[in-house]
Amino acid sequence: MIFYFSGTGNSAWAARQLARLTGDEVYDITNLKELPDMSNAKQIGFVFPVYAWGVPEIMADFVKNLSRKPVFTFGVWTCGGDAGHTMKQFSKLYPLSSSYSLRMPNNYIIGSDTDNEDEILQKIAAARTELARMAQEIQRQEGVYRVHEGTLPGVKSRLVNFGFNKFARTAKPFFATDSCNGCGQCAKCCPACVISLRDGKPVWAAQCLQCLRCINECPQQAIQYGKSTAGRRRYTIRVYLPQNEQ
Ligand SMILES: Cc1cc2nc3c(=O)[nH]c(=O)nc-3n(C[C@H](O)[C@H](O)[C@H](O)COP(=O)(O)O)c2cc1C
Repeated sequence: MIFYFSGTGNSAWAARQLARLTGDEVYDITNLKELPDMSNAKQIGFVFPVYAWGVPEIMADFVKNLSRKPVFTFGVWTCGGDAGHTMKQFSKLYPLSSSYSLRMPNNYIIGSDTDNEDEILQKIAAARTELARMAQEIQRQEGVYRVHEGTLPGVKSRLVNFGFNKFARTAKPFFATDSCNGCGQCAKCCPACVISLRDGKPVWAAQCLQCLRCINECPQQAIQYGKSTAGRRRYTIRVYLPQNEQ
């Protein structure tokens, strides 16, 4: 049983790949009306993106209420570069038998531009190989810690993560430019359901997760975040996947 959260599709794809390779079921936590029956789960996995070297709040809230089962558990954090001590944060909420970070294309276009096309393709190809290896280890129920923590993981996962959640994770800078045609795709696809249309333009409520699906998926590229995202490319994994993996 694999639970995932994903903004721009990296973690969704990784979760689906792992489920296929290990013969498991996969659930998007934002679509769950009620918890599936976990009594026969042979393993429990969590897949989600690293946010400021920590666990996205929506995933933290989800696992806090999840009953603990005496089965093999694993976590896979997708990240553009490094994961810091995300695993330490997470395993305080839900104990894990295995932890992995998985390098995937960067979607945090508030901080920097996306990876270039070659890097994106290389990261996805390398992730495929790594997921196949993970699947074998998971099936053997091997305890593995293969996490790229990066430099100063403690500082990043405590101080920077605290600052991100307290100050940086604000929806206020989001706005739609004149290219917005009011299609409402942003409101429809928002996993936190915090976008509504006012006079045909999106407005964001404060509970935004900052997953950046809206800005990356806008068909008109009409969404910006303050001054930081103008001129930057957009990223969603869908564009790079064969039809049967989307
Ligand atoms: C708010 C936010 C914060 C992020 N922080 C980090 C980070 O600390 N380290 C990192 O390597 N990547 C970071 N990223 C990049 C994502 O973790 C990475 O692109 C991930 O694979 C996106 O997954 P998704 O497509 O499932 O949403 C961040 C992305 C967002 C949106």
